[in-house]
Order: sequence, then structure tokens, then C-alpha cells
Amino acid sequence: MNTEVKQNIKRPIVLSGVKPTGIPTLGNYLGALKNFAKLQNEMTNYDFYIFVADLHAITVPQNPKELKQNIRNVAALYLACGLEPERLVLFLQSEVHEHAELGYVMQSISYMGELERMTQFKDKVAKNMTQGVTSALFTYPTLMAADILLYDAKYVPVGDDQMQHLELTRDLGTRFNNRFGNTFNIPECLVTKQGSRIMDLQDPTKKMSKSENENKGCIFLLEPLNSIKKKIKSAVTDSEASVHYDKVNKPGISNLMTIYSSLTNKSFKEIEAEFVGCNYGTFKTKVADAVVELLTKIQSKYNEIVNGDLVNKVLDEGIKKVLPLSKN
Ligand code: AMP
Ligand code: TRP
Repeated sequence: MNTEVKQNIKRPIVLSGVKPTGIPTLGNYLGALKNFAKLQNEMTNYDFYIFVADLHAITVPQNPKELKQNIRNVAALYLACGLEPERLVLFLQSEVHEHAELGYVMQSISYMGELERMTQFKDKVAKNMTQGVTSALFTYPTLMAADILLYDAKYVPVGDDQMQHLELTRDLGTRFNNRFGNTFNIPECLVTKQGSRIMDLQDPTKKMSKSENENKGCIFLLEPLNSIKKKIKSAVTDSEASVHYDKVNKPGISNLMTIYSSLTNKSFKEIEAEFVGCNYGTFKTKVADAVVELLTKIQSKYNEIVNGDLVNKVLDEGIKKVLPLSKN
């Protein structure tokens, strides 16, 4: 962006993106979506730019029809999770070709060694061994750096799995500024205090994510409520029968406590006191009730808007605001 255009951006920007690779999970909600809505209420002097990261989605194989549907679902879910359309600039990454262009520039100033260190890449390679690993999956963090630097974003709210990518973004932005003159704002990460890493219910040492364990350990935001209850009731715990927080020795219970705490705003101490002498069945029922209460609201809002005009309207307005910023 040239300086003239930069001067036209009156308010600082909070920016983030989510990949449309399936239905967002409770992890996405507690680590990202919930936080956006809260920040939007608190940071009234900021503009909120949120995009559906469809270019990131195609770094792994996608079914074109499903991808199209997922893009719409994700956009509708953002709105269903409490983001206010009036103060939100929502758009599709692929509709702004400057993301890919600046991504190429970022690739040109990044080193193989620093991309090889990215843990998300290493994890994904381990999972996709049989399908072939694309070169775009390897250079993905350079595109993410472009996504952020392109808008001179000030804050980037993400779950803690994205911190390493954010650090790389800061390094690449600083490197570019040092070599070619001060061009980009160096962004800061905003990590949710509570819920920045929700773990899989069946293997609480792994992050809750769309493709784990035939999805038994993962709660999807649009899943039938009965199925959610079942998943929480069969979450892996331990044999101690005591609800207290110990991430190392009691990862399953600690994860359920994190979920409960994020939903009720109760501290771990308060939760421990609430469930003194209770068995895990009672605790799990309470956690399931809290999750179901939340998802009942989100799903009914989602059903209201997914087939209406609101999603298209917000996306059309979003792209109109974003294109002039990225064009210069
Ligand atoms: P993704 O679905 O990987 O595009 O992630 C979108 C956002 O959700 C990012 O900010 C992630 O950090 C966050 N996120 C994804 N999975 C989790 C999880 N299990 N716990 C907390 N945050 C998550
Ligand atoms: N890489 C992020 C994820 O997997 C999604 C993303 C793409 C993103 N570009 C971004 C997040 C820019 C924040 C800012 O979750």
C-alpha cells in the first residue's frame, strides 16, 4: 500500500482468518470466534477484518463442491457467533489477488530453514504422508504473513497453534522493512487467555481438530446436540474421580475444565469447589449442558441466516471496503 492509501485508513485494524476446511469446531469457537466477538465489543476504536482463508484451504486436497459450501458455512457461522455485521469487514481471501502476490514476495525473502521449523507443517506432513505434500503447504506461512502485512494489521487474534506463524510474520515484515525501507506495520498477536488450545476429547494430548480420531474427539459447531452430549460423556478422563486441574497428569479432566471455564467464565478454583465429591459423570453432564446451551443458540442463529441474504450482503460490502486498500 502507498502512504496516501495508508493515510485513508483512519482506524487501526484487528485482522484474522479461518480456513474453510470443514465445519468449525468447538476449538475454533473458544480459541478464535468467541474471542473476536468479545474483542469487537471491547475495542470500539478498531476495525475488524476477518477473511475466509480459501487459498490456505487448497494447500491440502479439497472437493470443489464441499469447499464452496464450507466457505458459506464459515461466513454464516462468524455471523452466528455474535460478530456484528455493521462493524465487520468480512471477505474471501481469494477475491483479493494481492494476497497471493505479496505472498510470493514474502516467499522470496524467507528461508527454507525457517519454514522447515514450522510445527504445523511438520504435523501435517506426518498426517498426509500417503497423499503427497504440496509445495504450497510448505510455503503457507509466507501467504499468512502476506494476509496480515497487506493491511498493516495491528492485532491478530488467534489460538496458540498460530503463534509460530505470527512470529514468522513479524520476522518477515521486519526483514522487508530493513531491506527496502519502512513499509509494513509489525503486528502483535492477541491470544485468548482461556481456551487458546482445546484438546481432542479422545486424545487430550492432541489439539481438537477436524481430522482426528474419526472425529470422535472433536465437537463440530453444527453437529446434532445428542451427538455432542455423547461425545462429552465418552471423553477420556482418568481413574482418580476428582475434578481438579493438572494438565500433565489429568489432561482429559483439565481439558473439560478449560471448556467449562471458557463457557461459564468460572475460574479453575471455582470449578474445583463446585464439583468437590462429585463423580466424573456429574461433571461431564454439566459440561455437556453448557456446550449444548451455547450450540443451541449458535445453531438457531446459523439456521436463520445461512440461506438468507445477510451472508452475501456482508461479503459484498466487505470486498468493497477491502479492494481499494489492497489495490495501491
Ligand atoms: P483453523 O481451523 O486451523 O483455520 O483455525 C482457525 C482459528 O481457530 C485459529 O485462530 C486457530 O488458532 C483456532 N483454533 C483451531 N483449533 C483450535 C483448538 N483446538 N483450540 C483453540 N483454538 C483453535
Ligand atoms: N493459518 C491460520 C489457521 O490455520 C488461518 C489464517 C490464514 C490466518 N491467514 C491468517 C489467521 C492471517 C490469522 C491471520 O488457523
